[in-house]
Amino acid sequence: MLNIAIAKGRILKEALPLLARAGIVPLEDAEKSRKLIIPTKNNVANIIIIRATDVPTYVEYGAAELGIVGKDVLMEYGDQKFFEPIDLKIGQCRLMVAGIKNQTPKSHRIRVATKFSNITKRYFVEQGRQFDLIKLYGSMELAPLVGLADQIVDLVDTGNTLLANGLEPLELIATISTRLIVNKAAMKLKRESIMMLMENLESIIEDGSYLK
Ligand code: ATP
Ligand code: PRP
Repeated sequence: MLNIAIAKGRILKEALPLLARAGIVPLEDAEKSRKLIIPTKNNVANIIIIRATDVPTYVEYGAAELGIVGKDVLMEYGDQKFFEPIDLKIGQCRLMVAGIKNQTPKSHRIRVATKFSNITKRYFVEQGRQFDLIKLYGSMELAPLVGLADQIVDLVDTGNTLLANGLEPLELIATISTRLIVNKAAMKLKRESIMMLMENLESIIEDGSYLK
């Protein structure tokens, strides 16, 4: 039996059709259920539904053999103590620096608001730029509008959220998609079932028809 930790919200929604194609079908509506562990048809696996930022922790410690989570979360988590073998091609977006449209920050030292503090620090330090980091937990787009920050680091897909708030994308930090991650010990101890699932997923991804 495999435990698969999945980030709730957008990733769970997009991962369910992919998992269904691989024969992993939850016994109840995973998006609506209040249960945190959801068994699947034929007892193939358990789906564990948690906050995105907790997925790497569950997989690192082996509480879940497998995890499904965004590359943004993995980059923010830092040192990878698990394998990251498959790009599931869902949850595709970009991690970007953005700011108020047509407005260059007046000061040399800018204030950057984000929930991605580690990624942002690494990025600005690599560029040798001076900055103050303002840690937020969501709705980063608001920060420049109320004078809390000059720029933000956030995920951008269509760009509609930036546009709606008078912001513009400035720099690309990374392209993001959802990844399968695997606990290192489980890869040895449960090799057969994990490899079987991975091969299955790879051919479904190649086919691509689970994508909308
Ligand atoms: P939490 O509330 O748990 O901090 P969240 O609200 O950021 O999470 P979601 O918005 O559901 O969670 O995003 C989950 C993941 O989906 C992100 O980590 C990222 O990999 C991906 N993602 C986020 N926004 C987009 C988007 N606009 N388009 C495509 N993928 C996205
Ligand atoms: C994400 C992200 C941006 C938005 C970008 O938020 O944090 O705000 O999507 O997408 P767009 O470029 O297509 O507008 P989400 O919609 O997941 O809401 P959240 O604030 O709950 O994370």
